[in-house]
This record gives sequence, C-alpha cells and structure tokens, in this order.
Amino acid sequence: MLVLGIETTCDETAAAVVERQSDGTGRILSNIVRSQTEEHAAFGGVVPEIAARAHVDLLDGIVERAMKEAGVGFAQLSAVAAAAGPGLIGGVIVGLTTAKAIAMVHNTPLIAVNHLEAHALTPRLTCALAFPYCLFLASGGHTQIVAVIGVGKYVRLGTTVDDAMGEAFDKVAKMLALPYPGGPEVERAASGGDAKRFAFPRPMLGRADANFSLSGLKTAVRNEASRITPLEPQDIRDLCASFQAAVLDSTADRLSVGLRLFHEQFGPPRALVAAGGVAANQAIRGALQDVAARAQTTLIIPPPALCTDNGAMIAWAGAERLALGLTDGSIQTPRRRRDLRTPALAFRGFSMDRESCGKPLPLPACGETSDCEAIRVRGYRARYFFNIRGSKSPSPQPSPRKCGAREHS
Ligand code: KG4
Ligand code: ZN
Repeated sequence: MLVLGIETTCDETAAAVVERQSDGTGRILSNIVRSQTEEHAAFGGVVPEIAARAHVDLLDGIVERAMKEAGVGFAQLSAVAAAAGPGLIGGVIVGLTTAKAIAMVHNTPLIAVNHLEAHALTPRLTCALAFPYCLFLASGGHTQIVAVIGVGKYVRLGTTVDDAMGEAFDKVAKMLALPYPGGPEVERAASGGDAKRFAFPRPMLGRADANFSLSGLKTAVRNEASRITPLEPQDIRDLCASFQAAVLDSTADRLSVGLRLFHEQFGPPRALVAAGGVAANQAIRGALQDVAARAQTTLIIPPPALCTDNGAMIAWAGAERLALGLTDGSIQTPRRRRDLRTPALAFRGFSMDRESCGKPLPLPACGETSDCEAIRVRGYRARYFFNIRGSKSPSPQPSPRKCGAREHS
C-alpha cells in the first residue's frame, strides 16, 4: 500500500510517500521537509500565526514535490494521512484540511494520525521493530516515556511535569543569546565547556515515578548566568556543558525507572527507542546507550531526519493504521492537545463529512489536468476553513483561475 503523509504541527512543512509491504516492512519513496527556521529565527521561537501562514503557502508545493519524487499519482494512493494533533492549532488545521481535500477529490481514505503515535511507530519503518518496546520521546513539545504495546496501544509511564526537554534547551539557548533553534547550539557550545564548573540540580533524581521536571534546572541556569554576567564565551560554553550534564543525569535516572516500570508491567522490552528532536543530541545518545545496556536491552534511534518532525512518520503511522482497517479520519478534527492514551474525538459542531460541506465543487470545464486538481483541492479546503469559522452562509467558490494558469510552482 502507498500512503501520502502530511506533517504541519509545528514549524516543519512536510510531506512524504511511504510504501508498506504485505509482510509489514516499509520503504520511504519520498520525504520532503521544509523547515521554517528562517521565518521564526528573529523571534527566538516558533510564532504560531507565522507558522500557520507559512504552511498555507508551502504545503501544496511540498505535496507536489513528494508525489513527483515518489513517482506516484494521486490515483495510486491507498490513503492520505495527516497529523491531526497535538500541535499548534493553525498548522494542524492546514495539514488536516489539505489531506481531507485530497482524500475527497481522489476518493481515497483519510487517516488522521496522532503526531506522537507517528514518532512512536517510526522504528517499525526504519528497522521493522516488533512490539512491545519502550519509547523515550523528547521534543520541543513533549517529554514522555511510553510503553508501545501495539498500534493504538500505548501506556504512558512518565512525562514532564513542566517544560519539555527541547523547550528547556531552547530557553537556555535564548537566555544565553545563542541562535534559534537552541538545542543544537547548546550541544555545540557544551562540547567546548566544562560540565563540572556549575553544580546544577539533577531534577527528580531517585524518585519512584518516571516523570521529568526541567523548569527548575532552567531557572538555576538563568540565576547562575545573571550572577556571573557579563558572560564571556567560555562562561557560555561552561553553562551549556553543565546544563547538558544535568539533563543527561536526570534523563538516565528517569529512563532507568521507566524501563523498570515497563518490565514490571509488560515483561522485557524488545528495545529502548529514542525519538524527537532531542534524540539528535550526541551526548544524550551516549547516555541512553548506557541506560539500555544496564537494562539489558537494545537502543534504537532512527536516523536524525526521522527523529525530527517529517512526513514519512505520518505516512507510516497511516499505513500501520490502514493495515488494521483504522480509517476513521473523516470525523477527526485538528487538536492542539492530544494524548496518546485516548483516541481523538470530534469537536461538536465541526463535522467533516462531505455532506456538511455543501454540494460538491464543480469541476473546471477543461477536465482533469493537474492544475484543475489543485483548484479542486483548494476549493474543498476553502470550504473546510469556511466551516471552521462557523458561517452558515453558502461556502465560497474556489478561486476562479483559468485552468491553464499555474496554481503553484
Ligand atoms: O521533534 P522536533 O523536531 O519538533 C517538535 O518539537 O515536535 O524537536 C525539536 C526540538 C527543539 O526544541 C530543538 O531545540 C530540540 O528538539 N533539539 C535538540 C537538538 N536538536 C534538536 N535538543 C538538544 N540537542 C540537539 N542536538
Ligand atoms: Zn514531533
């Protein structure tokens, strides 16, 4: 089966085509990611409104490139999958409604994917990992330890009680005037620093649960930085190294507890899997290696491009769901918050089936050129946006461009 996946939950606009064989193995045919780092850099973080507008501008072109690079036509797709949350709501709406429009136009199933589930299932795409396994997900928005028992079967063993790990890296970078995105910058600075110079706290060390806490550590860095200000370059490197060392110690301790809880409830995990942007950090990878070895399990970390947000993970999660007949995307709604444990529920008053959108859009007179398809997709999407705003008046018509005109390049 061939699945197109769309990811727009944060500041990456991404689309990919993935093939799932009948034996359950997968192959990435295309994986296009356009990071919006430049758009947000001046603000030192992701600005939701800018992100949503950039997704609107970029997504059609990214989908087109993904399809072209995969050498696949829309008619060949077995399904279209899109991240339906959690994430920044504007971006989620753009991705999910675009996927819905494509699915309707091409009469193909729509699969609304939980972004966290997509991270969780990625090692099954990269190395056909069997269930159950233990996932450590650390990104800009999440820090969780999850028992992955099967598709749609997840048990959260630990979570952050305040900041996400990537968020803490980003905030530390910002307070030290390092560029955005902060995680890689802190790692780079830390490599030339003295990790023992500042004795920062090791949050949650020794606790019986497997939760994380990062905001106190972040505040400790802030206090120390203001105490020794003005900061010399070596001070910044030492602060970063000391902060990262505290994160490593805390992570190793929390994961050891998480793996013990996993073992008690589900027996030995087939692997410890790390995902999310923070898993790109080499020092953290080293610490995870030790944790996995102590727990007598294997550490699996997908390649960096599949650890950070991408369309292939969404397409793959869609393919896994499709293989089980789970294609209930037509009632799924974009969600800012979405938990791995609970299935997504539709918001009241936001029905997404074809009937609710009024009459089908008229086809442009010249027939099925790709430009016409683009107009149809945009037209349906316009109707969805219109419905979201709650208007009871008739939906707007698609932009009346000529069929020969380029819709996007
Ligand atoms: O998974 P991701 O690409 O996007 C989501 O947040 O969903 O993760 C991005 C986060 C950012 O906070 C970024 O600073 C962090 O991952 N990150 C890192 C590194 N690379 C990315 N944190 C620490 N070290 C890194 N090398
Ligand atoms: Zn993510």
